[in-house]
Amino acid sequence: MAKLSVVLIALLFSLVANITFAQSFKEEKWATRLKFQRKKETVTNIQFYFHDTLSGKNPSAVRVAEATETEKSPTLFGVIMMADDPLTETPDPNSKLLGRAQGLYGSAGQQEMGLIMAMNFGFIDGIYNGSSISLLGKNSAMHPVREMPIVGGTGLFRLARGYAIAQTHWIDLTTGDAIVGYNVTVVH
Ligand SMILES: *[C@@H]1O[C@H](CO)[C@@H](O)[C@H](O)[C@H]1NC(C)=O
Ligand SMILES: *[C@@H]1O[C@H](CO)[C@@H](O)[C@H](O)[C@H]1NC(C)=O
Repeated sequence: MAKLSVVLIALLFSLVANITFAQSFKEEKWATRLKFQRKKETVTNIQFYFHDTLSGKNPSAVRVAEATETEKSPTLFGVIMMADDPLTETPDPNSKLLGRAQGLYGSAGQQEMGLIMAMNFGFIDGIYNGSSISLLGKNSAMHPVREMPIVGGTGLFRLARGYAIAQTHWIDLTTGDAIVGYNVTVVH
C-alpha cells in the first residue's frame, strides 16, 4: 500500500511537471510578444494649433469629391476634402511649425455637421521629428469641444493610443477657414 502511494505520487508529480513544462513551452512562444506589448509605457501630452485654410490662392484643404446631393445638403453631406495643414505652437500662423496634418475629412452627418477624419499628424520638431500619430474618428465640428480617438503612431509614438480634444479657436463661417487647438494625450 505504501509502495503504491509512492508510485502514484511519483506519477502525479511527473504529470504535473510535464504539464508545467508543456505550459511554459507554450508560453515561451508568447513571451516575446507579451514582453514587447508590456514594455514600460509613456504618457505624452502634445498641444498644437491646426490651420485649415479653404480660401485664397493657396488653400491647405481642397475639395476632392462630392455627391450629386452635396450642395443641397445643409451639412454638405458627402463632400470629401484632402488637407495638408500646418500645425503650429500658438494660434498665430507664423508661430513655430511643429508638423503637418495630412489626410482626409468628409461630411458624414446628414442632420448635423459631423466630419469623419482620417489624418496623419507628422511632427518635425525636436525629438518628435519624424514621428507621427494617426487620428481616426468623428469631429462634431460645430461643438465648441470634441474628442477624437488616436489609433496609432510611428517612431517615438509606436503603438500609440489615446485621444485628442479639439477646440475651435477661430472660424470664418463664410469661407470655412479655421484655427483649431488640439490637446492630444497618448500612451505609447
Ligand atoms: C528633421 O529631420 C529631417 C530628416 O532627418 C532633417 O532634415 C530636418 O532638419 C529635421 N528638422 C528639425 C527641425 O530638426
Ligand atoms: C490638455 O489635456 C490634458 C489631459 O487631458 C489636461 O491635463 C490639460 O489641462 C489640457 N490642457 C488644456 C490647455 O486644455
